[in-house]
Amino acid sequence: MKLGVNIDHIAVLRNARQINDPDPLDALGIVKRAGADQITIHLREDRRHIHDADAKAIIQNSALPVNLECSLDPEILNIVCELKPHRATLVPEKREEVTTEGGLDVLSHFGKLKLAVEQLHAHDIEVSLFIDPDLQTVEACHKLGVTWVELHTGTYANIFAMLYSNLSRSRHSVKSLEKLSKNELTKALKSSIQQLHKAATEADKLKLKVAAGHGLNYHNLDAICDITEIEELNIGQSIIARSVFSGLENAVIQMKELIK
Ligand code: PXP
Repeated sequence: MKLGVNIDHIAVLRNARQINDPDPLDALGIVKRAGADQITIHLREDRRHIHDADAKAIIQNSALPVNLECSLDPEILNIVCELKPHRATLVPEKREEVTTEGGLDVLSHFGKLKLAVEQLHAHDIEVSLFIDPDLQTVEACHKLGVTWVELHTGTYANIFAMLYSNLSRSRHSVKSLEKLSKNELTKALKSSIQQLHKAATEADKLKLKVAAGHGLNYHNLDAICDITEIEELNIGQSIIARSVFSGLENAVIQMKELIK
């Protein structure tokens, strides 16, 4: 199973100060040396983290393939075609959301997606569709002729976080899950894994490559890694969050040395 590292959150930190430190570009070498297989970035319509110049520099300088997530917005699609990443992952985007909540509604937007996929293919860009683990949706992706589907693991991750909150913090309060008993949450977790497994199996049968991502962290990976049809995971938040603390001690030591 391959790992794509989503480095958007380095840009979140950079943008908080509106200076160029930390520069997401500096992550490329570290992520590659650490054994990752892909760099993933999301050029959002509101440019809240990765900016156009970041995307351009990352695609030009990355020794690893770059997976550029983007919405169906025509302006964004034109930029993506110009940037020519190795892969474009189409995701739904709402301005007010904190992160990508839910997969693409492929059935309702089939025509629009067909045009976007054709445009990206015409620019030799491999296409992935970020979807909820639903069989009909997987079949529609197959009809669109894309190479990849990326299964949204957010529901699984949210249930896991509610059930094992001592291990893994929920990224946002999930109102619909708050009322469930431990027993119901255990059942819901099992069902979410089964849905991911069924969707991955169906996609694999249809010769679609299968990726998965969203909300995956150092605690909830086991059940996902057991789904052998999944070839790749895209993980961002938990890796960047951990890197803050795995790097903090060294950063303080280096500053103390300079002060001395
Ligand atoms: N895959 C897709 C399509 C995403 O939109 C995101 C979030 O940007 C991720 C994976 C990574 O999710 P997380 O940051 O929760 O690991």
